[in-house]
Amino acid sequence: MAWVRIADFRAEVGREVRVRGWLHNKRSSGKLQFLIVRDGSGFAQAVLARAAVPPEAWEAAEKAGQESSLELTGTVREDKRAPGGFEMEVSGLSVLHATHDYPITPKEHGTAFLMENRHLWIRSPRQHAILRVRHAVVNATPDFLDDQGYTLVDTPIFTPAACEGTTTLFAVPYFDEGTAYLTQSGQLYNEATAAAHGKVYCFGPTFRAEKSKTRRHLTEFWMVEPEIAFAHLEDAVRLAEDLVCHVVARVLETRQEELKPLERDSGKLENVKAPFPRLHYDDAIKLIRAKGSPTSWGSDFGGTDETIIAEAHDRPVVVHRFPAAIKAFYMASDPDRPELSLSADVLAPEGYGEIVGGGERLADGEQLRRRIHEHQLPEESLRWYLDLRKYGSVPHAGFGMGIERVVTWICGLEHLRETIAFPRMLYRIYP
Ligand code: 4AD
Ligand code: MG
Repeated sequence: MAWVRIADFRAEVGREVRVRGWLHNKRSSGKLQFLIVRDGSGFAQAVLARAAVPPEAWEAAEKAGQESSLELTGTVREDKRAPGGFEMEVSGLSVLHATHDYPITPKEHGTAFLMENRHLWIRSPRQHAILRVRHAVVNATPDFLDDQGYTLVDTPIFTPAACEGTTTLFAVPYFDEGTAYLTQSGQLYNEATAAAHGKVYCFGPTFRAEKSKTRRHLTEFWMVEPEIAFAHLEDAVRLAEDLVCHVVARVLETRQEELKPLERDSGKLENVKAPFPRLHYDDAIKLIRAKGSPTSWGSDFGGTDETIIAEAHDRPVVVHRFPAAIKAFYMASDPDRPELSLSADVLAPEGYGEIVGGGERLADGEQLRRRIHEHQLPEESLRWYLDLRKYGSVPHAGFGMGIERVVTWICGLEHLRETIAFPRMLYRIYP
């Protein structure tokens, strides 16, 4: 008899199969025991009738506590009322490891306790669903970019200098070379690989020593960063728009089962179609000030500002041409208004904030050298980066999309911490 995964039950209706998994929950009515079993692929109800199983199996099931590991034999039946839509009529059961004191019970627990037990919390249905949505987002991203002719080139994690400002660097002792820093973004290296491959992306963990405790910041997060040679701001924005739409469509296509336990209104996600509305920074400031925000021209938006901007629309919004002074050193300037940068952020709807940040890069070597000094960055460590403006410099643009921000929005979560198996935050490095 074949081992079958619960996710494949549909094809097994009427057949006797074997399943291995863990006991998620159970209830009993004297002659019947109802076990909710999870096997990683899904949840199913297994029904044991005292008369239909050997006495040892009945007793083992009675004694097994939540999260005991077990093997079951039984016949698959369709049952719309059962969690997962299928039921297993059990003919045999053995417990591999009986558990009696699993700390996460079906009652409510506080977040601090759950975070301390994150290694176990990830087994619960809601967390399982979120990580499944994350997987769909992570997979849809290279599928889309590869289809468009992009080459994946991995960029280093140990780097000699900052990319996104010097205040959020994690320093690591690096042999006789002195200090290395964990990468904040693969972008600078992408600019080199884009000159080799034309259209590239990197996709990996990035690090920011964010000293603020917010629901949108992790110290370790995953980012996909495409970079395009011979491209301008608008090219990068269009690619971001199409990527976001593709990712949302993939989740809607493959993760309906997961959106249910999350109680996510998928109607809101169905609105996510290109083109996204564009808002010039000047107009964004006017909009938020008209709604009572104290933020003035020249400042970055706060969380509330992003919510006000997003509330005016049913899909993500692109805000473009932020003041150069609040953006990174590598941003190209708007030729009509040099105080503005050719930058753009994509803000998610429903107040989920920035999911994409990017823009056009400064292509001129002399201007770039000046910027490096203005930002007090070590020119010596960025010599290679300046070389890119010496040998066949071209207009180029790109962006970074934060995976956890996107998953938070798509799943409709309060906090970023649930979108990654083991979140790293200001006050959290365990487990
Ligand atoms: O806007 P950011 O800082 O842009 C860059 O790093 C560029 N170098 C990217 C590029 O052009 N190649 O970060 C990009 C995105 C943000 O929009 C957000 O989604 C995410 O990365 N992000 C974070 N996600 C979680 N925790 C943090 N601390 C994050 N910081 C940025
Ligand atoms: Mg940003």
